[in-house]
Amino acid sequence: MRPGAPNPHSKPPPSRLRFLLLIIFSTSTFFPPLPPLTPPLPIPNNIHHHQQHLSLSTSTSTSTATTATQTTLNNIFFAIASSASSYPRRTPFLSLWYDPNTTRARLFLDKPPTNTGPTPLLPYLISADTSRFPYSYPRGHRSAIRGARVVKEAFDFNHHTNANANHNDDDQIRWYVFGDDDTVFFPHNLARVLTKYDHNKWYYIGSISESFEQNLRMTFGMAYGGGGFAISSSLAMALSKVLDSCLMRYPHLYGSDHRISSCLSELGVHLTLEPGFHQLDVRGDLFGLLATHPLSPLLSLHHLEIVDPIFPKKNQTEAVQHLYKAARVDPGRVLQQTVCYDLSSNLTVSVAWGYAVQVFEGNLLLPDVLASLRTFTPWRRRGKNMASQYVIDTREYPLDPCQRPVVFFLEDVASGTGRVWSRYRRHRTKGCPGIDAIENLNDVRVFSKKLLQDVDKVMAPRRECCDIIHPFNKSMVIDIRRCGFDELIAMNA
Ligand SMILES: *[C@@H]1O[C@H](CO)[C@@H](O)[C@H](O)[C@H]1NC(C)=O
Ligand SMILES: *[C@@H]1O[C@H](CO)[C@@H](O)[C@H](O)[C@H]1NC(C)=O
Ligand SMILES: *[C@@H]1O[C@H](CO)[C@@H](O)[C@H](O)[C@H]1NC(C)=O
Ligand SMILES: *[C@@H]1O[C@H](CO)[C@@H](O)[C@H](O)[C@H]1NC(C)=O
Repeated sequence: MRPGAPNPHSKPPPSRLRFLLLIIFSTSTFFPPLPPLTPPLPIPNNIHHHQQHLSLSTSTSTSTATTATQTTLNNIFFAIASSASSYPRRTPFLSLWYDPNTTRARLFLDKPPTNTGPTPLLPYLISADTSRFPYSYPRGHRSAIRGARVVKEAFDFNHHTNANANHNDDDQIRWYVFGDDDTVFFPHNLARVLTKYDHNKWYYIGSISESFEQNLRMTFGMAYGGGGFAISSSLAMALSKVLDSCLMRYPHLYGSDHRISSCLSELGVHLTLEPGFHQLDVRGDLFGLLATHPLSPLLSLHHLEIVDPIFPKKNQTEAVQHLYKAARVDPGRVLQQTVCYDLSSNLTVSVAWGYAVQVFEGNLLLPDVLASLRTFTPWRRRGKNMASQYVIDTREYPLDPCQRPVVFFLEDVASGTGRVWSRYRRHRTKGCPGIDAIENLNDVRVFSKKLLQDVDKVMAPRRECCDIIHPFNKSMVIDIRRCGFDELIAMNA
């Protein structure tokens, strides 16, 4: 677009605004059906006919192909490295994502549960003895060998079961997903993200550590095990065959994940990065990270019993249960960040859906709002909290509390007929004069449409836009919608 040319898409049409105002001021219902979000885009007339035809037929065949290969929860097997001593205290985390009716999963224990302890929530297998494998990492733990062999044990278990069963394609295990018993998975998002990849090809999918130093000590080419990772069934078959002989060459490594990545690199396979897996090698307050999640579905969270509770006035388990309430209502949208600007009140507002809303005074450029405030501290305690500690974009968290954004945390969330409503309550900090324009603001209500579990959107995501509905005083209403074709996320676009 030419500079200065009017942008027909930058503001919602007046009728839509009027409609939103109607919703806000009619108290009877939160969920009236909304008009379609954006009119269908006209096909630009500078595309020649044969090209149009070509692109249409390509997109048709792609969408047929993706429907046929849609990965569901049924196609995923979760293998969780655990132990008889750790699983009892991890049960609250496991119970968030594990549903006996829909999740295929096994815990891998070192020995049978004691008679006095609770029954494991998940069915379990007892790992084989690993005493024949060498382990030499100083002050490490040789359970890392058992952890690495979970890949082989999970594959062998299913292969054996499958060989004796008459399976149809819907039940076929396409992916093996590995994690620890303190990994909180978001299984619906995993199924959606794994649909991007062909399980018949060799894929090793996960994420590196947030900590630069951790990656430097291990490798930048491995999926960290606490964040969890996925291996396609075809690759799991090959790896399970060679794993034991490969493990003999790596007694000097610390963890199970590093052993697996080493053996995969011997097979010639490289890590495919998916930013939704979170090892969370940081300490303290995760706020800055969670409020700026990458534009990709949330797949896992880890170390939640080491960091501070992620919501105020809740303990660690209650806090993650609270976030999971939002994840149950709209899993694809949880933590997704949307930013809106209010020129007349001179405000920048960032919504991390299902978690928190931040209000900043003034006009912050979008890339700055997407960088994580360093509310957290480095994994290695002696490290200074500087940007160079991390492999993600961060910015300084002001020492002066009055320079920080005003934050609203998720209070409740509800849905109906495809529309979702979430409410965030102000977290008051003592002794700051605050921002005049929002002096009386107690809560923020966010309307959104349930984010479609559509593979095209996962392959080529675009951030959504939002509007702040005027006027506001004690309560602010924000509507999240698809952006216009050439709409920019900026205050004066
Ligand atoms: C699993 O299915 C059974 C029978 O359909 C049902 O009673 C139970 O509530 C379900 N459990 C969960 C956790 O959804
Ligand atoms: C958190 O609080 C709940 C009660 O709401 C309690 O049952 C649980 O043990 C607490 N968890 C921790 C880790 O303190
Ligand atoms: C908007 O807020 C910023 C930051 O507080 C301030 O520097 C600027 O003067 C304000 N602009 C207007 C027009 O009020
Ligand atoms: C905004 O809320 C405050 C505090 O309740 C109230 O005193 C004030 O009159 C309200 N302003 C408007 C314009 O409604």
